[in-house]
Amino acid sequence: MARPRVVIDTDPGVDDAVAILLALASEEIDVCAITTVAGNVGIDKTTLNARRLVELAGRPDLTVARGAAGPLVGALDEAGEVHGLDGLGDLEWDEPGVPEADEHAVEVLARLAEEAPLTIVAIGPLTNLALLQARHPGIESRVERLVVMGGASFHGNVTAAAEFNVWADPEAAARVMSGAWPITLMPLDLTHQAVLNDADLDYLRGLGTTVGERLAGMLEPYAAFHDQWYGNRDVIMHDATAVYELLAPGAIETVGAHVEVETSGRLTRGETVIDRRRGFAHSSTRVGTRIDNDRFVGVLRERLARYPLV
Ligand code: RIB
Ligand code: CA
Repeated sequence: MARPRVVIDTDPGVDDAVAILLALASEEIDVCAITTVAGNVGIDKTTLNARRLVELAGRPDLTVARGAAGPLVGALDEAGEVHGLDGLGDLEWDEPGVPEADEHAVEVLARLAEEAPLTIVAIGPLTNLALLQARHPGIESRVERLVVMGGASFHGNVTAAAEFNVWADPEAAARVMSGAWPITLMPLDLTHQAVLNDADLDYLRGLGTTVGERLAGMLEPYAAFHDQWYGNRDVIMHDATAVYELLAPGAIETVGAHVEVETSGRLTRGETVIDRRRGFAHSSTRVGTRIDNDRFVGVLRERLARYPLV
């Protein structure tokens, strides 16, 4: 069976960095492009970070294409306090040699989907995906799978109701969730089960590789944020769960559901309303419910250890 062709649409972001490096170390999938969107930090920074990460992964051949600079409606509200001012924990980086594509992210997504079956992993605000739907009607039928990190079944992380990726562009999320593509959603109640602890950060440092050193460096301030915000240093690997879903089909338990996004509630704007009633058990939209963290971390450690010592 051919390896899925994958585009990662991302707003790096420290947990995006882990997801991207996991994907680029895994033979089960063929990552053919990285598309960027504004989210954790602005589009200039997320695009620069994507170029940095692709170079760090030793994949200067990969297309890195800039996408939307803000939500469909309103203005971007960054999450800089979570990921550092540069979006990757404020480490020192050389200017990456990997160029930015001339093509807009949405056109790269459309072209790749038209060429052959495509899987999209969306781990930032869904603005590019909504623009793809609007500018290329029917494109959903060319997308084999859309795996989204976003939403929450019970409690948000930006407000009590809203998770960041959906909160950052609720109109885009509402359009994507109502689209005709097969969606697998990894909401916060799933991603909060997928964590790295200080022993895992020590493991990354102990690899003696540039990837291990850089990741540990990015994850340290991210762990400090988690300690302040959640009361412990376990770092939540939100975005890596979306990649893991492709590497280990069936490892994440899912249920069929109907998902809608609230766009107008005074207290609930950005909420994902996830209806798991049995009438939706066979829905083409699946929602992650449970992950075995020991197995997930084992795969993550093994893949990240594959990067060379340089
Ligand atoms: O709520 C978690 C999501 O928001 C992750 O994708 C993280 O990178 C931020 O974008
Ligand atoms: Ca992200």
